[in-house]
Amino acid sequence: DQSRQIAQTLAEFRLSKAQLLEVKKRMKIEIERGLKKDTHGTATVKMLPTFVRSCPDGSENGDFLALDLGGTNFRVLLVKIRSGKKRTVEMHNKIYAIPIEIMQGTGEELFDHIVYCISDFLDYMGMKNARLPLGFTFSFPCQQTSLDAGRLVTWTKGFKATDCEGEDVVELLREGIKRKEEFDLDVVAIVNDTVGTMMTCAYEEPSCEIGLIAGTGSNACYMEEVRNIETVEGDEGRMCVNMEWGAFGDNGCLDDIRTQYDRAVDENSLNEGKQRYEKMCSGMYLGEIVRNILIDLTKRGFLFRGRVSETLKTRGIFETKFLSQIESDRLALLQVRAILQQLGLNSTCDDSIIVKEVCGTVSRRAAQICGAGMAAVVDKIRENRGLDHLDVTVGVDGTLYKLHPHFSRIMQQSVKELAPKCDVTFLLSEDGSGKGAALITAVGCRQRELER
Ligand code: BG6
Ligand code: GLC
Repeated sequence: DQSRQIAQTLAEFRLSKAQLLEVKKRMKIEIERGLKKDTHGTATVKMLPTFVRSCPDGSENGDFLALDLGGTNFRVLLVKIRSGKKRTVEMHNKIYAIPIEIMQGTGEELFDHIVYCISDFLDYMGMKNARLPLGFTFSFPCQQTSLDAGRLVTWTKGFKATDCEGEDVVELLREGIKRKEEFDLDVVAIVNDTVGTMMTCAYEEPSCEIGLIAGTGSNACYMEEVRNIETVEGDEGRMCVNMEWGAFGDNGCLDDIRTQYDRAVDENSLNEGKQRYEKMCSGMYLGEIVRNILIDLTKRGFLFRGRVSETLKTRGIFETKFLSQIESDRLALLQVRAILQQLGLNSTCDDSIIVKEVCGTVSRRAAQICGAGMAAVVDKIRENRGLDHLDVTVGVDGTLYKLHPHFSRIMQQSVKELAPKCDVTFLLSEDGSGKGAALITAVGCRQRELER
């Protein structure tokens, strides 16, 4: 009957502990492939060196600009860091929209727009003539050769501007600033959002050596031993590695747990075949998985009186904030129906029960496999250090983590079960990743002085 068939459809999303341990194991394999010289070139989890070698120690000082591009909001920030006994960080920021035409237009248009926003911000703050050092949080995979040079490997999420892939993003920004001929800036560092988040949290909590983003996209970074990063010279100390774990599965290694709905989401995306893990566990795609399941259930006559409405055919209608509302336990079913109504979906009470269950099933799997990835990371750090037990803190940010009523709890539970030898504390970044980018910029400036 109907409910059995619905249950059967959703069963594919319910992963057993053995399956999750398998995901963890495969992540470990891909981590090693990304780190090793002879497999790095073809590895899916790229393990990109960031040239960030230490966490902040409180001696950072100065005024910095930061850009934060690639999440829900594009921000420009002024960050004033004061060292000493009573160290303080003061931040001013403004959010700017990036219209979709610019996200998917030409690279020049994109960078002109970014520079226009910086210009507006400097006017707003009354500091056009300051020539401040700038840290650029750029939340995409970049192959870095130093703190201030990074080639964009590939766009991810909703971006697809032309003429940027393969280019040094810092140069693109510098060229944009030159074109505008209005102000000068000193671009000191390019920083992934995971790294910025880790640094933001490490400023308050020195045991923070991992950064996690569960937002529009999904990714993590952590402090790896330099001797293990075969693409970086030297054997001493540690360096933060931007894993780019969103691409996990791009070689097919997750195909046994991907469903027809995951494949449909992938086929309809801007980057087919890429970021397969991210497409199973990040905010930009969860709603799309849900929508594809609902379409299928409707076609089979189990939902919405069997009528697939135009609304239901519309991509992107279920944003993270809607899933979060629908899954909130404080909400009565009538309110779930009201939310669906807002989206233009007429539902019966039975419909709303099914929709809520579909959402819960999809987000649970997301949280669990994200936890499985994290379990691989913490165990890797523990093994690096030859420890039987590891205490470690993860700095986290992202709308999915912050807004969803169950994601963070299930993810943490999953890490606990899958990495029992580690005690992992999750620390929410209250200041985004811009603060971390400014701290990295401060360290970069100091390093440059020393080298002079
Ligand atoms: C923010 C960071 O706090 O988290 C962004 O400052 C980052 O740079 C973001 O991309 C991730 O969350 P989301 O949900 O906005 O993609
Ligand atoms: C995507 C990007 C990655 C970023 C993540 C979270 O996976 O490729 O660089 O960290 O989204 O924003």
